[in-house]
Amino acid sequence: MRVIESICEMREVCQSARRPLGLAPTMGYLHDGHRSLVKRARDENATVAVSIFVNPTQFGPREDYSTYPQDMDRDLSLLEGENVDVVFAPRAEEMYPGGLERWRTWVEVMGMTERLEGEFRPGHFRGVGTVVAKLLNIVRPDRAYFGRKDAQQLAVIRRVARDLDLGADIVACPTVRERDGLAMSSRNVFLTPEERRAAPVIYYSLRKAQEMHRQGERDGERLRSAVCRELEGEPLIKAVDYVSVADPGTMEEVSTVEGPSLLLAAVRMGRVRLIDNVELGGLT
Ligand code: PAJ
Repeated sequence: MRVIESICEMREVCQSARRPLGLAPTMGYLHDGHRSLVKRARDENATVAVSIFVNPTQFGPREDYSTYPQDMDRDLSLLEGENVDVVFAPRAEEMYPGGLERWRTWVEVMGMTERLEGEFRPGHFRGVGTVVAKLLNIVRPDRAYFGRKDAQQLAVIRRVARDLDLGADIVACPTVRERDGLAMSSRNVFLTPEERRAAPVIYYSLRKAQEMHRQGERDGERLRSAVCRELEGEPLIKAVDYVSVADPGTMEEVSTVEGPSLLLAAVRMGRVRLIDNVELGGLT
């Protein structure tokens, strides 16, 4: 497994790699959710590349960039174990030379980035869009793998890849959960034991409304309220940022569920913000 820090070298290695080439972009501190993306990429491609880069431009000024968990040695041995061919782990200075004050070019998807995560994390998706466009441009993969756990991010990236003709197929992978239902996330390590025990309420409240949908409930407001009621019953949840029934392609709010939709929630628990979502009806 090669570990590369320079853009120039990464480009060269990827240009001469056996095709098809699959890329799984990550911010490291890898868990089984990331591993599922890597395994899928390994199944479907001759060459597998993984990027590890804690992208400063997608963190807000009061967010956890400086404390984002990292463990490069553990990540590299996990990726070695999954037979990854190339790891791209650039420094911030390599990706944003001259520092962020002097950065001028941004990839911004209009509309769908203003609500949900975008409303609570202004500038977040501009950072994600920009770094993913850069990574796809450096690696030029045939396929790039993303998790459905970050459903709005997936919609944004699909749009960026399409609108900028980045030439990679965007492959969506199912959310991987802990045994008790909590969606895996690098940030779960920041939960206290008590919060960790309470956190599965997010998934269970979504599942409850998913079951209402399965039994015929089509009213967006009633599905949202059912989730809110459950979440608000958990005292360790400090705030419910949003509960939404949204179109998976545009992330627009859905008032009556007709086609496949997403039911999404974001809550604050202790020092952590947790997001999760389930599907209403089958997704493509
Ligand atoms: P990160 O949070 O490290 O996640 C990397 C990829 O793993 C994303 O596509 C994310 O959706 C996926 N993922 C995370 N947890 C998952 C889970 N429990 N099940 C399935 N997939 C999961 O998302 C990012 O990094 C960054 O925004 C990035 C896309 C790398 C751009 O900087």
